[in-house]
Amino acid sequence: MYTDSIDLILSRRSVRSFQDKKIPADVIDKIVQCAIFAPSAKNKQNWHFTVITDTSVIDEMNRLALVGMQKMGIEKEENTHIFYHAPLVIVLSSVLEGYSEVNAGCALENMAIGARVYGVESCIIGQTRFMYHQANEQDINRLLKIPEAYHHDLAICFGYPKEDLPEAKPRRENLVDYIR
Ligand SMILES: Cc1cc2nc3c(=O)[nH]c(=O)nc-3n(C[C@H](O)[C@H](O)[C@H](O)COP(=O)(O)O)c2cc1C
Repeated sequence: MYTDSIDLILSRRSVRSFQDKKIPADVIDKIVQCAIFAPSAKNKQNWHFTVITDTSVIDEMNRLALVGMQKMGIEKEENTHIFYHAPLVIVLSSVLEGYSEVNAGCALENMAIGARVYGVESCIIGQTRFMYHQANEQDINRLLKIPEAYHHDLAICFGYPKEDLPEAKPRRENLVDYIR
């Protein structure tokens, strides 16, 4: 349990190895609430979340993305699973308009941080976009229950970590200026 919200934020890592353990429905509901209560420009809430625990759909998304990558000439190891076999994947899609990607980012980080309260770690997965390099957008959107007029942004996978969290990757310097 984290009681210090700064620690909760600063100790977050992208986790890529998960236990074979389901996340309870009430915890999933809380994670989704964290997304829904994220800020959005003009409170447009122009996002949609597809909450996927059906491993056959998660595996199919992985397959589609890997074929898409192959078509783009991106080499991947044979056993690659873009969701690291996580038990929960949430797909974000948006009506593409002003700030919709920023809104999606707010929702993503809210979920990533909120999940940690329950010991659930995550990794944002942009590679889902490769699915669209090899199959019809409508077919994929139907599979993922993405409503009409919404476009896939990316996904985030969640699970209980298998190992200690990795060390923080070094952060670049000189990216902050102060005007005092
Ligand atoms: C928009 C976005 C897309 C990302 N896509 C992937 C991805 O497809 N696969 C993956 O393993 N990590 C992905 N990541 C995680 C980043 O690699 C990670 O956040 C970065 O290396 C910093 O590490 P940290 O999250 O542990 O601080 C993504 C992160 C963001 C913000």
